[in-house]
Amino acid sequence: MDGNIIDGKAVAARLRKRVAHAVSALPIQPSLAVVLVGDDPASQVYVRSKIKFTKQCGMRSLEHRLPATVSQDDVEETVRTLNSDPEVDGILVQLPLPGHLDSDAVIALIDPDKDVDGLTETSAGRLLLGQPGLRPCTPTGCVILAKDVLGDLSGKHCVVIGRSILVGKPAALLFLEQNCTVSLAHSRTENIEALCRSADILVPAVGRPNMVKADWVKAGATVIDVGINRVDDSSRKSGTRLVGDVDYDDTAAVAGAITPVPGGVGPMTIACLLRNTVLAACARRGLRAPEELDI
Ligand code: GUN
Repeated sequence: MDGNIIDGKAVAARLRKRVAHAVSALPIQPSLAVVLVGDDPASQVYVRSKIKFTKQCGMRSLEHRLPATVSQDDVEETVRTLNSDPEVDGILVQLPLPGHLDSDAVIALIDPDKDVDGLTETSAGRLLLGQPGLRPCTPTGCVILAKDVLGDLSGKHCVVIGRSILVGKPAALLFLEQNCTVSLAHSRTENIEALCRSADILVPAVGRPNMVKADWVKAGATVIDVGINRVDDSSRKSGTRLVGDVDYDDTAAVAGAITPVPGGVGPMTIACLLRNTVLAACARRGLRAPEELDI
């Protein structure tokens, strides 16, 4: 940490190092298959990073690029083929899919044992039931960042804002798994400011710039900002910049620790995907999960 700013890039780099070390000690080479449909520029950037870091960690990267006009049947056939390929340990279907495709149906097809995004019903069920399984990457990244600051999270009050399937709900369950007392706030929560002010760990995951103000945050609290919002900024060449859900400058003056956007939670998502790929490879092949990948 630099002052009270949580360096997500550095924490992610350390996790990738642990992944690479774990991979080097395995008798097998884990492999991750990425399915990218269409040419959405942001998805292209994400997928390029995922592929680069997969290889950097010593794993095999398989790419399946499908045209934006591909049919539902053809996407589903790709997933079925990857499910039945014994060489494939992890399957990631980059979201969002083009509008004519049913993403839920595609995700539902992924073999849960290869579900490195942790998005299938089975993975969600395993998380809810407290069974071993592959956990969603962004919420796992939030837990790792909070632990990096606070160590043991037992008994801490964690307030997650936002009840999305991708982040809010699984984040609440993952912080509960760490023995936090968890509140899950959302758009209908009454007196949300006071609830947030009682948080030791505040995890906004809404997608609304500057929603969380400094006076919503208890002095010394840890703020893990999951929001990624593009806002106008005429001082930039691009005319825009990325911000989180937190009114950052004022809140940073109050918080004990806070993630910046970009450079906070974002880099952790890919690092957790790599970790999940190793965990999936070990579980599928009857190998013990490397202890160095414990969170
Ligand atoms: N698109 C943006 N973030 C993600 C992610 O974490 N997983 C998938 N599958 N698609 C994404």
